[in-house]
Amino acid sequence: MSSMITGTGIHLPGNRVDNERLSRIMDTSHEWIVQRTGIETRYFADPDEATSDLALQASIRALEDAGLSPNDVDYIIMATMTPDYYLPGAGPYLQRKLGIQNVPCLDIRQQCAGFIFGAQLADSLVRTHQARNVLLVGAEVHSCLMSWDSWDIVLGHSDRAVDEEEKEWNTRFRDRTVLFGDGAGACIFSESEDNGRGVMDTLLFTDGELSDRIWANAGGSAFRPFFNPSMTEKGDTVPMIRGREVFRLAVTLMPDAVIKLLERNRLTLDDVDLLVMHQANLRINEAIQQRLNLPDERVFNNIQRYGNTTAATIPIAFHEARIDGRVKPGSLVCFVALGSGLHWGAVLYRA
Ligand code: ACO
Repeated sequence: MSSMITGTGIHLPGNRVDNERLSRIMDTSHEWIVQRTGIETRYFADPDEATSDLALQASIRALEDAGLSPNDVDYIIMATMTPDYYLPGAGPYLQRKLGIQNVPCLDIRQQCAGFIFGAQLADSLVRTHQARNVLLVGAEVHSCLMSWDSWDIVLGHSDRAVDEEEKEWNTRFRDRTVLFGDGAGACIFSESEDNGRGVMDTLLFTDGELSDRIWANAGGSAFRPFFNPSMTEKGDTVPMIRGREVFRLAVTLMPDAVIKLLERNRLTLDDVDLLVMHQANLRINEAIQQRLNLPDERVFNNIQRYGNTTAATIPIAFHEARIDGRVKPGSLVCFVALGSGLHWGAVLYRA
């Protein structure tokens, strides 16, 4: 018994925003963003769209791709750091919108590593006969964390001028806000009798000592009350990132996880047909590709179009790689990610 990914689907919301548009509301430029990150555009949800709305569309497409109906799903794993509500998370809302009942739903965090942690869980549930078809979704609406008053301009509803005060406020967060986008990617993990295929192995790590490398200094039980107006006034609700340190950690820990996972499966990098990395920064992924000495055709990146969609990056990239014919039956795919926690690791998957 193994678990195979039998369907994939993605959903990007309707508002495509390029770097030039962001440069209208803050002190940044297309050149800076592309040179440091590779990002050219990202998609933002409408203000009335929540994470479960994006997740629903991706899930419907993944189910269609797998030839299944929502009633065939017997477990939902929802990976997101931007749930519809902080209570009770996004999983139950996704279940409700899919029109299915009495199916267990897990909301998992793990941020940018959400998909690889979710894949280990999905695989374990299938192998231990707890579920036959697990729906794993990575979805984010990062735009809700961007504390601008300039959404009318960003979403193209207005061409008004931005005054100095508004621009200064937006610029305070420019090192982070230019990086992220909204989106969803879904995968169906189904039981298979073909033991030579499916999820082969997973290697995951967490180091809580590094929890304050990417974190939010607001909204939680560390505060009284959980939310208070000064958090918004000071801009503390926007996640903090020690960018240079995260960059260094990513280019070290991600390739190390790939090498360790291959070694323990008696495989080498030559055996890997496709490396699907978390999409945090194209420069991170280029450094990892170089360190692993992989040619372009064995790596897939799409951050140029979507920015960092956190838990959604890997399922979106895997879906596009499949559609492009970059994943064939028998291909060995390695997923690798690192995110706030610090959580990181890799998954080996035989298509
Ligand atoms: N536009 C223009 N200038 C900017 C911008 C911007 N959007 N953001 C920062 N700057 C300026 C800074 O103010 C600074 O100016 P100064 O030299 O006058 O002080 C200068 O650019 C350099 O700033 P750094 O923060 O040192 O820039 P760096 O080269 O480290 O790039 C980046 C920042 C892109 C965030 C990089 O550190 C990075 O990719 N880090 C890892 C990614 C990450 O942390 N992602 C978060 C999610 S976690 C994950 O997905 C793994």
